[in-house]
Amino acid sequence: MKLWGGRFTKDNDALVEAFNASIHFDYVLAKVDIMGSLTHVVALQDIGVLNASEAEKITQGLNKLLADLKEGKLTFSVSDEDIHMNIERLLHQEIGAVAGKLHTGRSRNDQVALDLHLYLREYLLVIVAKLQHLQQALLQQAEQHIDTLLPGYTHLQRAQPIRLAHHLLTYFGMLQRDIERLIDSWPRVNTLPLGAGALAGSGFAVDRQKMAKSLGFDRVYENSMDAVSDRDFVVEFLSDAALIMTHLSRLSEEMILWSSQEFNFIEFDDAYCTGSSMMPQKKNPDIAELVRGKTGRVIGALMGLLTTLKGLPLTYNKDMQEDKEGLFDTLKTLDDSLTLYAPMIASMKVNVSAMSQAIKQDFSNATQLADYLVDKGLPFREAHAVVGKTVLHCIENKQQLLDLPLAQYQQFSELFADDLYQRIQPENVVEIYTVQGGTAKSAVLTQIQWAQAQLQHTEKWRVMKEGIIKSKQNNFQ
Ligand code: ARG
Repeated sequence: MKLWGGRFTKDNDALVEAFNASIHFDYVLAKVDIMGSLTHVVALQDIGVLNASEAEKITQGLNKLLADLKEGKLTFSVSDEDIHMNIERLLHQEIGAVAGKLHTGRSRNDQVALDLHLYLREYLLVIVAKLQHLQQALLQQAEQHIDTLLPGYTHLQRAQPIRLAHHLLTYFGMLQRDIERLIDSWPRVNTLPLGAGALAGSGFAVDRQKMAKSLGFDRVYENSMDAVSDRDFVVEFLSDAALIMTHLSRLSEEMILWSSQEFNFIEFDDAYCTGSSMMPQKKNPDIAELVRGKTGRVIGALMGLLTTLKGLPLTYNKDMQEDKEGLFDTLKTLDDSLTLYAPMIASMKVNVSAMSQAIKQDFSNATQLADYLVDKGLPFREAHAVVGKTVLHCIENKQQLLDLPLAQYQQFSELFADDLYQRIQPENVVEIYTVQGGTAKSAVLTQIQWAQAQLQHTEKWRVMKEGIIKSKQNNFQ
């Protein structure tokens, strides 16, 4: 018989049962569901709804389930629909009729909301840690390649020479903003919905503040209807996740291009590539490609949930069961992508000579040639035109700016003198950009220091939050 079967005169059709069930994905909530129930038991005992011996029995039963769960001994059934009713049924099998008192003053509506908050907050810290690992890998490559120069691009056309460290630290900065967004979302994830009941509030005046404290929540939902209706925190996480994946996808795109024979700027370690079943020479950057490809499903999860929520009246509607698969899939996708990405970046080989060859065979020093004329007193717009004509001449004659004789230069402007050749050497060009955030060595070293400080700052935050969660979980073991 269903736990809600009293009002019914017949069984569900098997297909209805299967369609309605969420146990095949919400089983991952088992641990946090039991934690929530253990907290609820204390709250019920505090207000005399459970006597000491009942509370003791239920607590022992729940702890037994927790231990069985750890050992992989719990089995769930579709006929009990979701994780909440499965746990209640298992508890009943464990301790008998007193299990029926656990759900007093509680609904699956506040229960499922609680579970999602607990589950997401724990996993969010894992994601932050993995973002840090990737940041570390980028930083390590940046430190190694502070003196490696390559063309910087706009429109995928060679633009100005830059330091590879400068380029890689761009991604560090993107990931730092991703971390900041996750940190910012923390108070909204870490809010307790329990005690909201189905919607109007628990019919038994449980102490919600005390429950929040014992589970390590920062605060409670002020409004019980909001508590059970809200999935903003899931949308917000999916949005953060979509942006993280978008960043990884941009990085992937670039690394894939760079590992092509056309660029030949980097080589991924064999461990992160695969071959072709037909073409023996192939070494394909599959991991980077898959991360780029999986960005689609994460963006899809965000769009899916927003679309699910947009027409929903208050409060809980079964539509909201659709929040979970997208979230769980997104967490796994992020987790796997970041786990692979950090060592893939750390182990990639940089082809320093291909990069330095590239800046010797392009016009990425042309801006400096114009700035040179500015230093000699020419208005920038005129300098731009002079250098433009000089570049065109070089292109037509298959020459580089560094090879063009001074006599030729002077046909375009009498301001050109011998010192121009020093000025437009790539190693000298990059050193001009000492402006904060620029590509000169001093400016990039400052960025490296900034990155190190960010890593420490995040680490402090993460360890603090992890400490709180662990200490609360220890109460449940
Ligand atoms: N399995 C449901 C979900 O994931 C749990 C809440 C169901 N509540 C209800 N009253 N049917 O959303």
